[in-house]
Formats: sequence, structure tokens, C-alpha cells
Amino acid sequence: MMKNNSPKHNNEKYEVRDTQSIELLKELHILTRDGKMNQDSRRKLKQVFHLVQFIEPIINDISQQQQRFNLVDFGAGKSYLGFLLYDLVAKHLVHPFQIIGIELRDDLVQYSKKLAQQIHFEHMLFYQLNTQEALVSPDLPQQIDIVTALHACNTATDDAIDFALHRNVPHIVIVPCCQAELAGLLKENKSQVLKNNYFSALWKFPIHTREFGSHLTNVMRCLFLESCGYEVTVTELVGWEHSMKNELIIAKKLQSSNKSQKASEQLKHLLLEFNLESLAPRFKINL
Ligand SMILES: C[S@@+](CC[C@H](N)C(=O)[O-])C[C@H]1O[C@@H](n2cnc3c(N)ncnc32)[C@H](O)[C@@H]1O
Repeated sequence: MMKNNSPKHNNEKYEVRDTQSIELLKELHILTRDGKMNQDSRRKLKQVFHLVQFIEPIINDISQQQQRFNLVDFGAGKSYLGFLLYDLVAKHLVHPFQIIGIELRDDLVQYSKKLAQQIHFEHMLFYQLNTQEALVSPDLPQQIDIVTALHACNTATDDAIDFALHRNVPHIVIVPCCQAELAGLLKENKSQVLKNNYFSALWKFPIHTREFGSHLTNVMRCLFLESCGYEVTVTELVGWEHSMKNELIIAKKLQSSNKSQKASEQLKHLLLEFNLESLAPRFKINL
């Protein structure tokens, strides 16, 4: 009897849906050439697939309220997220849509363009831009409904948030990457702060500096979003055994211009307490 190598039958937790493009999955090396699940891709697939499950209801909600939707993915890399969102969700919609990848590396942009063309994913666009250039790029549509950033390096996540705020984007879904900037500032100010701040024990050792810097960064990002009128939820994306960069931040613009004064105050106090005054402009805080 012939062995069935289709991923549905090989006891993988991730099941390929009948409507999914097998060609896409092979091109992204999620499936091997002979159609088996590629073990090396399982970790990435799990993260992206989970993220798609969080974004799918947002897209469905938008589609019930309006006739089209546009999503911009920052630090898109090989655009796994964009391709899977297209394949699993967007292609089933009756309304037009665009999924746009912003990526610094031209080779990755060319790769994604070629693949989208090959598999006829016509509503995907890719731009070789850094995240700050995206802010002023005339190529991006006026109306953007969702901004995503999956492991966009360091401050590229902040640029994605900045972009979303400038363009009044109602939905932001980010999974931050490592964040070195704040840990660097904590380290720089360590000797000064150690003298008069008991909390400095939180980042005395280098590994704590890094982890605390990362944690504090994400806390401040959430407060910033709240202070700008977003409702924020934070959860883990997948189990910690799959990724250390696992924090999923989902922000939804509130209907009323309900900017949280409390969040703004908390943000201000964190900046002052941890000698991070230089970051005040980023978070639009007057000290
Ligand atoms: C860790 S990878 C993640 C890629 C993809 N989102 C994923 O999860 O597979 C980060 C990507 O962000 C890109 N990147 C880093 N800084 C960027 C910036 N300032 N503007 C645009 N892309 C950036 C890098 O080139 C890289 O492809």
C-alpha cells in the first residue's frame, strides 16, 4: 500500500487545511518537496500560525464593517506572516484587500515579490524601506486597518507603533524582538542610579539588565498605546519552549478619544525613576 505523506496524516499538531496552497508551503519550506512537514520550520510555523489565529477575527470584523482592508507588516523578512494570512484568511474574503510587507533587506523583498507572482497572490505588495521611511512613503495606501510586526528588530517595533499612531490605524498586533536600546541606557546610567535607587537591583547583573530592559520597553510601549487611546491586551504567543520572544501585544483604537491620562502619568514616572528621560520624546511625554 502506498504511504500517505500528506501532513494531515503524519501526527503533526499543525494540520494543513484543504484550501491552503501546497506550492506556497513548499516554497516557504514549511513542507518538504515530497510534501512532509519540515521539522526545522515547525517552530516558526507554530508562531506564525498562532499569530494568524489572533489576526483572523480582526480581519473578519473589519470585513463586516467595510468594503476593503489593508494590512502593513513591518520587518516582514520572508513574509511568512503575510503569505499565511493571505492563504488562510484573506483569499476567502469577497472584498478587495492588500497585504503589504515592509522590509529593509532587498534580497528578501525580491524573494517575496517573486513568490507572490509565482503563486498569483496578486494583492501582496512589498517595499524595500526602513520602518522610518515607511512613515513618509507615498506608496502606502491612505487607509490602513492593521499594522503587524513579528519580531521586528530592536526599535523597528517602535517605528511600527509610530507609523500606526501617525496613520490612525485602528488595530496593532506586535510581537517585539530583542530590545537593546533601553538595556544600553540602563547600563549607562547604572552607576548614577545605583547610589540612590533601590530598584537598581533589578538590573544590576548584565543578564538582568537585558531582560529587565526588554520588559520595561514593552511595558512602556503598552502604556504609550493606552495614553494614545488604545485598549491593550498582552499575552504570550506560544509556549516559552518555542520562543523567548513571545510577548504578543494587541492594541485596538477605542471609539471615543479616550486617551488614558493615568497611563501617561505612569509612563512619565517610569522614565524619571529609571533615568530614561532621553526617551521622553518617543513617548510624547513632557517631563
Ligand atoms: C527577526 S526578522 C523577522 C522577520 C519576520 N517578521 C518573521 O517573523 O519571520 C526581522 C526582520 O526585520 C528587518 N528589519 C530590521 N530592522 C528594520 C527596519 N528598521 N526597517 C525594516 N525592516 C527591518 C530585518 O531585515 C529582518 O528581516
